[in-house]
Amino acid sequence: MDNNSLEQNNEGRITIDHVSKVYDPEGANVRALNNCCAEVEPGEFLVLIGPSGCGKTTLLNAIAGFENITEGSIYLDEKIIASPDMNQSPGADRIVVFQNGALFPWKTVLENLIYGPMVQGKMFRDEAVAEVRRIMDKLGLSRSTEDLYPDSLSSGMKRQVEIIRALINNPKVLLLDEPFRALDSMTKSLMHEYLLEVYEITGKTIFFVTHDLEEAVFLADRVIIMTTRPGLIKAIIDVDIPRPRDFHVLATVQFMEFKDRAVKAVREEALKAFEAGDRELA
Ligand SMILES: Nc1ncnc2c1ncn2[C@@H]1O[C@H](COP(=O)(O)OP(=O)(O)OP(=O)(O)O)[C@@H](O)[C@H]1O
Ligand SMILES: [Mg+2]
Repeated sequence: MDNNSLEQNNEGRITIDHVSKVYDPEGANVRALNNCCAEVEPGEFLVLIGPSGCGKTTLLNAIAGFENITEGSIYLDEKIIASPDMNQSPGADRIVVFQNGALFPWKTVLENLIYGPMVQGKMFRDEAVAEVRRIMDKLGLSRSTEDLYPDSLSSGMKRQVEIIRALINNPKVLLLDEPFRALDSMTKSLMHEYLLEVYEITGKTIFFVTHDLEEAVFLADRVIIMTTRPGLIKAIIDVDIPRPRDFHVLATVQFMEFKDRAVKAVREEALKAFEAGDRELA
């Protein structure tokens, strides 16, 4: 397969095998993850939800290669990408889109988008520009934005450019850590539909972390609910709502039922986190 074709494929299985993470074992000894096991299927849209501080970002960062783990292992397809005795490093096969964005403000949209392939020496400038334009067309970003600087884009459009930039290198998986948290609710809902479109077109495995239940149920094939810290998996909800989905789904009984199930599971954990917080303050 052409390395930059963004075609659907059968790659991108993430296997999280008995993963634990302790920060600062000699000092504060914060156990962030406890014996976590999960599998994300190739091409699946998986959403991880849980109360603040339960270890969601820790798990995402461990998959991304930004954070080492204390026990267990993580695989991407057949390849081991994390274990306690490994020095992990980020790979082009798993790309992260963060909450706060990461576009270079001094570069135009086009320069931001060609930066990855050029800096990796994968393509000459002309090739990178052609590839970026092809992907912009495919993923619905108007070419009229090419010469604009990030500061002149709306917050939603910035996120769009970041998602496209993440996909330029054709990663096997896309990791998103609360990417829409700072957006107003209208823009957020447009970005949900945009991300679903990108998902339909690319078929990438998506691992998405959030606090937001409605977002989780709207986007996911499966929602994994984590317990309060140390995070382990409390429940898994299969969101059996047909795709393609758009905002009409939000008003359906089926959606409400899935959301209700998720609310109940998350609420129990939120209450525990709330009470534990009170105890820590006492
Ligand atoms: N570098 C660190 N050193 C010590 N403790 C840490 C470190 N990073 C995170 N923690 C702690 O580990 C726990 C899990 O943190 P993490 O950021 O993974 O949670 P989260 O679920 O992403 O939270 P949020 O929903 O607020 O983003 C928290 O208690 C946090 O304070
Ligand atoms: Mg987090």
